[in-house]
Amino acid sequence: MHAVDVIAKKRDGGELSREEIEFFIQGYTRGEIPDYQAAAWLMAAYLHGMTDREIHDLTLAMAHSGDMLDLKDIVPFAVDKHSTGGVGDKVSLVVAPLVAACGMPVAKMTGRGLGFSGGTVDKLESIPGYRTDLSEAEFKAQLEKIGIVLTGQSAELAPADRKLYALRDVTATVDSIPLIVSSIMSKKLAAGADAIVLDVKTGNGAFMKTLEDAETLAEAMVHLGNQAGQRVVALISDMNQPLGWAVGNTLEVREAINTLHEGGPADFREHCMVVAAEMLMLGNKASDTNAALTLALETLSSGAAWHKFGELVEAQGGDVRYIEEPERLPQARLIEPVPAPRSGYLAAVNAAEVGMAVVELGGGREKKGDPIDHSVGVIVHYKVGDLVQKDTPLFTIHANDEAKLAAARNRMLVAHTFSDAPVQRPPLFYRRVAE
Ligand code: URA
Repeated sequence: MHAVDVIAKKRDGGELSREEIEFFIQGYTRGEIPDYQAAAWLMAAYLHGMTDREIHDLTLAMAHSGDMLDLKDIVPFAVDKHSTGGVGDKVSLVVAPLVAACGMPVAKMTGRGLGFSGGTVDKLESIPGYRTDLSEAEFKAQLEKIGIVLTGQSAELAPADRKLYALRDVTATVDSIPLIVSSIMSKKLAAGADAIVLDVKTGNGAFMKTLEDAETLAEAMVHLGNQAGQRVVALISDMNQPLGWAVGNTLEVREAINTLHEGGPADFREHCMVVAAEMLMLGNKASDTNAALTLALETLSSGAAWHKFGELVEAQGGDVRYIEEPERLPQARLIEPVPAPRSGYLAAVNAAEVGMAVVELGGGREKKGDPIDHSVGVIVHYKVGDLVQKDTPLFTIHANDEAKLAAARNRMLVAHTFSDAPVQRPPLFYRRVAE
């Protein structure tokens, strides 16, 4: 078999066989097929799409390109959650310890932020000492000991995805449903959890701009996971405005800590409860949504979720003094509240623009490997539908550089639009997808 023939077949709109897909993925992972051929193949797949069978075979080939974690000898049943990426999405920081505190082991490998979309690894690294590079042996040992792990993706897991994702990022082939499905689900299959809740974002601050695309992505991932023997549910959620108030790594960790103490923004708290409830139901810890929500709320208010978060931070080498007294966490030098330019109902807080403002402040990366400043970010003070009075603080910028602060201020002002008439609040969730 030759790589060029596989590329030509996809270029001409053909359907690749399982053998052709496996040949290509294995060859690329081993370095026998070069980046330029893989890039051509990605573009062909991007333009022509893939059949369900091709997506299934591609996902399995990518999952099997490295180690397949088996957690069965460690815990009887492990759950995971995965977000397709958004702005202000710090859900894992609250939901993972909450679900683990209910006695449901949570085994999660998570990613870094890219572009306007943040990443849990970056947020956790705001806590001095917190290690996100656990080996597979450490991952398993910690899961067995305290029932929760939140770490970066191990180098041995789905290496084909690591290579392909980096290549997609620089070849304009990221926003393809078949390529996103295979990227996410190959990692999820390899990471060994028995059940997964997928938080599929839709809106201007998400990969999937329309509800229709988000539904197609969610349905494909749920189907694939179930076919592979995992219990998978997807929740399609809104990402037209940031989730919660805080966007930026340290600021988001603080907001998650407040939420674990029953504070925090109402939308974020509710979002966390719904995701946690789905995870508890998948793990048979509750028989229906009401019972699962009650259990989640009780676990939050009893302090058990907060206690589990402390155990997690300590187990991964983090200095718990920083979460017990969050004012110790890195602070930006310049903190500027920006007044509302007019009164009115808030019609939009463009999440993609808010995310890019934080990238420009230094809190995110334009390309993989860029260093980031954990202390910078923005706090929005209003949500879509709120009535805002002129001159009251509309948002607050945390910056370490005057010029960057000015650029972020402009971007944030553009991100906020107003209406004289009342504006309907968008829903947190649009749909639940299950089989
Ligand atoms: N997240 C992933 O892991 N892969 C994608 O392709 C998109 C989002």
